[in-house]
Amino acid sequence: MNNSKSTLQRKRVNILKILVTGGAGFIGSHTVVELLDRGDQVVIVDDLSNSHLKVVDRIEKITGKRPDFFLANICDFSAMEKVFKQYDFDFVIHFAGSKAVGESVEKPLLYYRNNLESTWVLIELMAKYNVKSIIFSSSATVYGQPDAVPIIETSPYSPTNPYGETKMINELFLKDVTAAYPDISVICLRYFNPIGAHESGIIGEDPQGIPNNLMPFITQVAIGIREELFVFGNNFDTHDGTGVRDYIHVVDLAKGHLAAVDYLKANPDASFLIINLGTGRGYSVLDLVKTFSEVTGIEIPYRITERRAGDIATCYADVSLAKDLLGWEAKFDLKRMCKDSWRWQSQNPKGYCGNCSQKE
Ligand code: UFG
Repeated sequence: MNNSKSTLQRKRVNILKILVTGGAGFIGSHTVVELLDRGDQVVIVDDLSNSHLKVVDRIEKITGKRPDFFLANICDFSAMEKVFKQYDFDFVIHFAGSKAVGESVEKPLLYYRNNLESTWVLIELMAKYNVKSIIFSSSATVYGQPDAVPIIETSPYSPTNPYGETKMINELFLKDVTAAYPDISVICLRYFNPIGAHESGIIGEDPQGIPNNLMPFITQVAIGIREELFVFGNNFDTHDGTGVRDYIHVVDLAKGHLAAVDYLKANPDASFLIINLGTGRGYSVLDLVKTFSEVTGIEIPYRITERRAGDIATCYADVSLAKDLLGWEAKFDLKRMCKDSWRWQSQNPKGYCGNCSQKE
């Protein structure tokens, strides 16, 4: 057998079959692109409640490969069982979930059901169909008001809203699962503040209605959808009085998932791990506005308003565990994040399809 043929065969053996829930969403779609680009096989299940079917076309446009797609809610056990029966998955990456802090306060039933039952369904099916590894999308929100920054993974839980509580309960549930089912390994990745977009500008963040988060609000002001940015408070104990966060490029974040998959593959006895994904650097609201204007040449008019309820002064990650265990660290700086966020917004002024239905 010649060398190139044996290399090809070896590569094929290493192809992973990965179920990605919520793969049409912001972080999910960027992760699917990275997985497909490196040759893994991806199956997306998404109910499109906060995303668009067009995302699948866009993923194909970027990668030249079309992931299999199923329209279903992850809480739907029988729909999910059909998917598990059809594929022999090596991994699950579980992004699907409801994620708006304010909405979670108004609709705790929705959040507890969507965010907890979905994980329960996945674990039931993983146990039944012998799938041993899952990466769970957690969030820095589980820390609430941190005692100290940078925040390390062993900091106490202190979520301040139902959304954060569902993330915390999922982590506790998954830890209990790994104790009872030693074959199952879990990595919970706690994201800090993902922004940016794929460098092609073909996929990006497409919030419904008025954006809750800072970067999509800034890009919507820049494109003219909104008149001005409201800066929520300038009397925090930070260098300029505005809130400081750990913004991370979504492509770096996506690559963190690949590193976590590789870690579990190499360490099947890993059992249960919690790992921060951030850059380890904090920038204020005004730092972000200034950098965005510098790289795009667009002034962002803003007005200082009252603090938003529940906002904290400063939040950034200790990223040493991700570096030590996964060999991963974020590469893109704030300028690049701003540049890529703007490329996405300017190429897609109304997001994926403006007023069209999400199922299109
Ligand atoms: N901000 C504004 N104006 C806006 C939006 C935000 O001034 O229109 C400020 C906030 O006060 C904060 C910073 O910009 O200081 C970042 O706010 P985001 O809403 O973008 O992000 P948060 O840090 O509040 O929350 C994000 C996610 C949550 C997640 C949390 C984890 O949105 O889902 O990080 O720390 F739980």
